[in-house]
Amino acid sequence: MSAMLLEVERLSKSFGGVQAVQDVSFGVAKGEMVAVIGPNGAGKTTLFNMISGVIPPTGGSVRFQGGVINGKKPHELAMLGMTRTFQNLQLFSDMTVLENVMVGFHTRLTGGIFSAGFRLPLARREEKQAQEQAFSCLEQIGLAHLAWERAGTLPYGTQRLVEIARAAVSRPSLILLDEPMAGLNPQESKQLVDVLLAMREQGFTFLFVEHDMETVMAIADRIVVLDYGKKIAEGAPEEIARHPDVIKAYLGEEAV
Ligand SMILES: Nc1ncnc2c1ncn2[C@@H]1O[C@H](COP(=O)(O)OP(=O)(O)O)[C@@H](O)[C@H]1O
Ligand SMILES: [Mg+2]
Repeated sequence: MSAMLLEVERLSKSFGGVQAVQDVSFGVAKGEMVAVIGPNGAGKTTLFNMISGVIPPTGGSVRFQGGVINGKKPHELAMLGMTRTFQNLQLFSDMTVLENVMVGFHTRLTGGIFSAGFRLPLARREEKQAQEQAFSCLEQIGLAHLAWERAGTLPYGTQRLVEIARAAVSRPSLILLDEPMAGLNPQESKQLVDVLLAMREQGFTFLFVEHDMETVMAIADRIVVLDYGKKIAEGAPEEIARHPDVIKAYLGEEAV
């Protein structure tokens, strides 16, 4: 048996006649940072949504920590230790940064970000503990000084970091990031890269979908490349950068 934390096997999704993802297999080991890349329309979002329980696959399976998770909902996966961020920011803009990070516990414990929005009460002692852990998570990411700011007042790139802190606060076994670099300026991207690398040092495991090749090359341990729904390559960044099929797929996109 393989010791992979996440095992995606022949995962497929068709929408009517469109085969958005076809027989895609790969794994993520504990402590790894794996990226899924590919041109627009390659099937990245569809794959990501199947793994994170947003949509059911039409074929294949996903195993997480040894158990099949097909058909489980995002909040059930959160309780099992898989959390995710979204391509569009999902912070509560009127809440403080600290409160937003604490939502990560509510999501993990009670399931569902929406119930968390109603501030389901935790016991007082738990609340205090959650607050301390959220603060220490912000410290690790270098955002402790912003703990009491309203999230909505912060620059976009900083909000993205808060979102990642929220995904990480419950110490999940796997964090899924949906295009973490999207919309960030170069300085913010660099800051995010530093944060992700530091988190990997601390033992976090990541699977992320990303369009920005440069970042992926800089931080991923392994890259899975999709094109027209199929996996066309998998390997270390150096291998992927000079893989003829990958170059062709990306050049094709630039020509459009
Ligand atoms: N809900 C949907 N209904 C029909 N077709 C879809 C749907 N979602 C995605 N697709 C199609 O599946 C393919 C892959 O899309 P997507 O996963 O969004 O790719 P990417 O994220 O790599 O740009 C595209 O051809 C897209 O048009
Ligand atoms: Mg997409």
